[in-house]
Amino acid sequence: MTELSYPAAGVLFIVGLKGLTSPRTARRGNQLAAIGMLLATIVVVVDLIAEDAAMAWGIVVAGVVVGGAIGAVLAIRIKMTSMPELVAAFNGFGGGASAFVAAEIIVTTNGNLPNETAATTALSLIIGALTLTGSFIAFGKLQGLITGRPVSIGGASTNGVVASVAVVLGVTAVITGDPFVYWAAALVAAVLGVVVVLGIGGADMPVAISLLNSMSGVAAAMAGFVINNQALIVGGALVGAAGMILTLEMSVAMNRSIGNILFSGFGGGSPAEDIGTKPVRAATPDDAAIALGYATRVIVVPGYGLAVAQAQHAVRDLANALEARGVEVLYAIHPVAGRMPGHMNVLLAEADIPYDKLLDLDQANPLFSQTDVVLIVGANDVVNPAAKTDPDSPIFGMPVLNVEDAKTAIVVKRSLSPGFAGIDNPLFYEDTTLMFFADAKKAIESTTAALANI
Ligand code: TAP
Repeated sequence: MTELSYPAAGVLFIVGLKGLTSPRTARRGNQLAAIGMLLATIVVVVDLIAEDAAMAWGIVVAGVVVGGAIGAVLAIRIKMTSMPELVAAFNGFGGGASAFVAAEIIVTTNGNLPNETAATTALSLIIGALTLTGSFIAFGKLQGLITGRPVSIGGASTNGVVASVAVVLGVTAVITGDPFVYWAAALVAAVLGVVVVLGIGGADMPVAISLLNSMSGVAAAMAGFVINNQALIVGGALVGAAGMILTLEMSVAMNRSIGNILFSGFGGGSPAEDIGTKPVRAATPDDAAIALGYATRVIVVPGYGLAVAQAQHAVRDLANALEARGVEVLYAIHPVAGRMPGHMNVLLAEADIPYDKLLDLDQANPLFSQTDVVLIVGANDVVNPAAKTDPDSPIFGMPVLNVEDAKTAIVVKRSLSPGFAGIDNPLFYEDTTLMFFADAKKAIESTTAALANI
């Protein structure tokens, strides 16, 4: 039964992961993967019962109940905007769990591990420890407990030295089998997690979290080899691979290499002092309604502020009103808009906005020059032209939505405050830009109301 159940769990993980590739099938995919995990857990408990290891299965069941309850409460209570923090914390727990599995084996064998598992034990311990501390630093940064700016402790060379020491200690631990060397390697890896993630700027945090997610999977796969558990090997390998692909896709979306993201201290500059002092053209609900109501094509660009204001339903109602007047309404989704991968897609799907109206960066950019009005709802960094024009800008080189190509840009936000990267946005001062200062939901609702009168 065990031999059959673990591959079955693996198949459920893979089918589940496939389901996550489209919003239509994502929920079902998630459920299938969860069933796979439940199956794998039940098999562990049944195995332990069969071995008559009452104490062991009692502890596993207690762990499932306590851990499951904490996970369920956190997942139910978490706000959508805080999801990246939750993912960071879960990654940290995953890495920590793998490190503890390795530590338990080292303690019970006193380091006398068979050759075939010594290396995987060291990897599980080192990668798990690094993921644990790195993820909680990422959590602290996103939660605002630690500054979002990059904090460099001696620069990239420190990271290199600490990483080399961790590798040397890991290799020495495998060769000598000395438990103290294993603990030293784990400690140095934990320090590495702290220094590397502290040095990453807030705007790069999604990539860091995705990479940590991948590493938590690698640590779990290594732990799977240590305790000879196929489901853990397959599940860990899938998380490792999926996390790595997402990491690479995000770095391509930002036009940066992983090395540059990890070691460049991006986003370090203080916000310019003149933010908010230059003149802008302010718009009222009537101005917005007139511009939108007489347009042929409108492209909505959602950003983090849409999520904060929960304006997705208001946007859908405005789009319905515009479409009733014969205006074509499309949506341009930047890959890192919001605070987590797919954030905007999830919110727009929640408001039943059809998927075929969503454009990605490459589809949207050529269309802006043939667009009358681009309605930017709570987005900032992802529409910042400085990424193309200012070589000194910390986001220089990041692909952005070319909204300034449209005839008019209406920017809905509450003030001239910067976005996540902490930098000014020259778009706000363009002649063709109208700044609509308000909470996104209220602004869109008042525009829909004004539209009814024109
Ligand atoms: P941001 O650049 O962060 O800008 C969001 C804007 O929304 C802010 O300037 C803010 O201006 C406005 N806002 C906040 N609350 C609002 C409300 N209630 N109503 C209206 N506006 C509101 O957002 P973006 O353009 O979506 O870019 C995302 C940034 O986050 C990027 O730098 C990205 O790298 C980073 N990031 C992304 C992720 C992922 S994976 N998506 C994860 C972490 C970080 P006001 O305060 O003036 O209203």
